[in-house]
Amino acid sequence: MKNSKTILCIVGARPNFMKIAPIIAALKATTGLHAKLLHTGQHYDVAMNLQFFEQLGIPTPDVDLEVGSGSHAVQTAEVMRRFEPLIDDEKGLAAVLVVGDVNSTVACALVAAKKGVPVIHVEAGLRSYDRTMPEEINRVLTDQLSDLLFITERSATDNLKREGIDCSRIHFTGNVMIDTLMRNLPQATALDKILEKIDNRSTVLESETGYAVLTLHRPSNVDDPVILESLLNTVAEISKKLPIIFPVHPRTLSCIKEFSYDNLINSKRIIQLPPLGYLDMLGLMSKARVVLSDSGGIQEETTALGVPCVTLRENTERPITVEEGTNVVVGSDHDKVIAAVNDIFVTGGKTGRVPEYWDGKAALRIAEIIKEFVERT
Ligand code: UD1
Repeated sequence: MKNSKTILCIVGARPNFMKIAPIIAALKATTGLHAKLLHTGQHYDVAMNLQFFEQLGIPTPDVDLEVGSGSHAVQTAEVMRRFEPLIDDEKGLAAVLVVGDVNSTVACALVAAKKGVPVIHVEAGLRSYDRTMPEEINRVLTDQLSDLLFITERSATDNLKREGIDCSRIHFTGNVMIDTLMRNLPQATALDKILEKIDNRSTVLESETGYAVLTLHRPSNVDDPVILESLLNTVAEISKKLPIIFPVHPRTLSCIKEFSYDNLINSKRIIQLPPLGYLDMLGLMSKARVVLSDSGGIQEETTALGVPCVTLRENTERPITVEEGTNVVVGSDHDKVIAAVNDIFVTGGKTGRVPEYWDGKAALRIAEIIKEFVERT
């Protein structure tokens, strides 16, 4: 009955990796269950993929579906098509565990649910109530398919109840992403090391106003030439106040090239870098004066670090980062972004506090509940 003790853990894209690392470690250390790892291959560049496995000590995946990029339908369908025969071979699986909200998450949850394999969703119940965001559709569907739902903030319970999900399936266990942050913060890379290959690094290292970190990758911000142009012009204006370090996501890089926008941010005060590894990004964020981003996870990481975050989106599915943390959600409007950055300059920004159960022990709580679930089913 070895297989009946197997939890098949799924990862596909960059934000999944920091979530799965503590879960696999906790399952192995405390439950006696076998944690098997499947990578869909949604992200495949070394910078988006392998360097995270190495830095976070994630075991090499037992299976790699190598799906790569594609439209939403193609990518989701390809994961499903390649995943289905594997589930058939894994008779008696205890559960499939998915994290977050990427296309790989919903694809594997759907296949497992239809095969009658229990689905566990970590980071359930987050809602932006914005269905133009592909992740929102992935979240709603994954939660409907899940038997066990682990939430990072209490507001998620209300969202799930509204969608008819039984409370007995919902568990408030905290934030596994913050487990990873707390574990790795002492090893975070120093700023001078991150910038050692950059010619004009003194712009940042000697800046009396500190520096900002920028990340951009949401289709709603980068795929639209008008919005991207406005955002990059805003960034250029902010860079006159303080230098900006900008690790560029591959999607954003290709949009900047396609629209010939390189000139908008061609400044010594905007340092463009390839996508960074986890320890570099953590080192960069932890010492920043402000982080500007449209990411989901960065809103949480900055709240845990106590660093001001300006979210370049119209809404957030992580309201606790605004209510208790350091986050302000301003969208992409030039005046609003400038006003938010100016306010941080004047006031120092929100100091915030670290939310309940973002204490480095979320994965241990999750592992305990999974163990009970497997014993019961
Ligand atoms: C995906 C997730 C998003 C997450 C983000 C983090 C979905 C719907 N979106 O968005 O929620 O915040 O990952 O990065 O699942 N590309 C590369 N190399 C790679 C991967 C992608 O060059 O290793 C390029 C390709 O041109 C690809 C594009 O990036 O078409 C977008 O990749 P994709 O996985 O479709 O979505 P992301 O924008 O990365």
